[in-house]
Amino acid sequence: MLLHEHLKALDVLTFHTQLLDWYTHSGRHTLPWQHPPLPYTTWISEIMCQQTQVATVIPYFNRFIQAFPTLEDLAASSEATVLSYWSGLGYYARARNLHRTAKILLTQFNGHFPEDLETLQTLPGIGRSTAGAIYTLAFNRPAPILDGNVKRVLARLIDLKSWPGLPENLKTLWALSERLVPTQRVNEYTQAMMDLGALICTRKQPLCSVCPIQSHCQAYAQAHTQICPVPRPKRIQPIRYNTWVLIISPTHILLKQNPSKGLWGGLWCPPSIEAAMDCFAQHHVHLFKKTPPTVSNLRIFKHTFTHFKLYITPIVIDLSQHPDFTPNGLQWQPRHHLDHFAHPSPLAQLIQRINRSI
Ligand code: ADE
Repeated sequence: MLLHEHLKALDVLTFHTQLLDWYTHSGRHTLPWQHPPLPYTTWISEIMCQQTQVATVIPYFNRFIQAFPTLEDLAASSEATVLSYWSGLGYYARARNLHRTAKILLTQFNGHFPEDLETLQTLPGIGRSTAGAIYTLAFNRPAPILDGNVKRVLARLIDLKSWPGLPENLKTLWALSERLVPTQRVNEYTQAMMDLGALICTRKQPLCSVCPIQSHCQAYAQAHTQICPVPRPKRIQPIRYNTWVLIISPTHILLKQNPSKGLWGGLWCPPSIEAAMDCFAQHHVHLFKKTPPTVSNLRIFKHTFTHFKLYITPIVIDLSQHPDFTPNGLQWQPRHHLDHFAHPSPLAQLIQRINRSI
């Protein structure tokens, strides 16, 4: 069926009533960013919720808002501090964009979020769907959204026969999303669609028997909910290899800050074997003069990024005393206070493993 035929067949008013009734008694009403739904907190939560589940986001959101209660606090902070509150959430470009946008809002928009959809989308990190979410949730003004959850709900609603990420399908889904935006209670409608996707219309084992819009759903009618949405075609993922040399003293670990662009940009990581060898060649007297280090290996581990897999071989160089010397380009970071510096989550796991074993 073509989109306009679906739309003709869809009783939009009943759809809204059933969805909003369900949302009233079964939706999420106690998320920490909902009370009150300020543009600032709505924005932070929307950025955190991209690619991350709500249950994971909540503690990060609470810590973040405690550290940066206002847009001014966020803009005045350093990127390194913002990143340290993002450590473990992944996709760090989100945090850097958050910081850039805070500064832009202060310098170019008098510290207020622009109240039109096009201008919102010009801000770093705010795409069409995030702009729609901020617009509806914080301003209660009508706009469509199409995040991962809503994409799945709408793909099933029309029993879409190919991967929703295809450009022609995105066009269809955006048109459908736009058509479904109600004229009233748009904030509740947006939250209801997100909640329906997260709580009922789940990817595996959707709870169709309690779905408020079951009677409108083509995938349900065709018994296609297990095959719709069609998954993304498999890509062959390239594999990369790296080493991490974890040079530790009883209190600290020697780390290098990544350049702000690129993999784990701006985060503190151990030097690679090449960087560590350079450092030892130049500074072995200073680093190893008190006692010779012990060297051990930890198991190789895999970290999956969107476009490739990274295998990392960790090598631990254990200095039994803390050298009062810091090699150029590296910095000692406190290994028992990981919240003091921004780092990727596999590093936290390795350091915690080392801390426990010594
Ligand atoms: N995912 C993205 N935004 C969300 C929100 N406001 N509530 C729940 N899940 C979300």
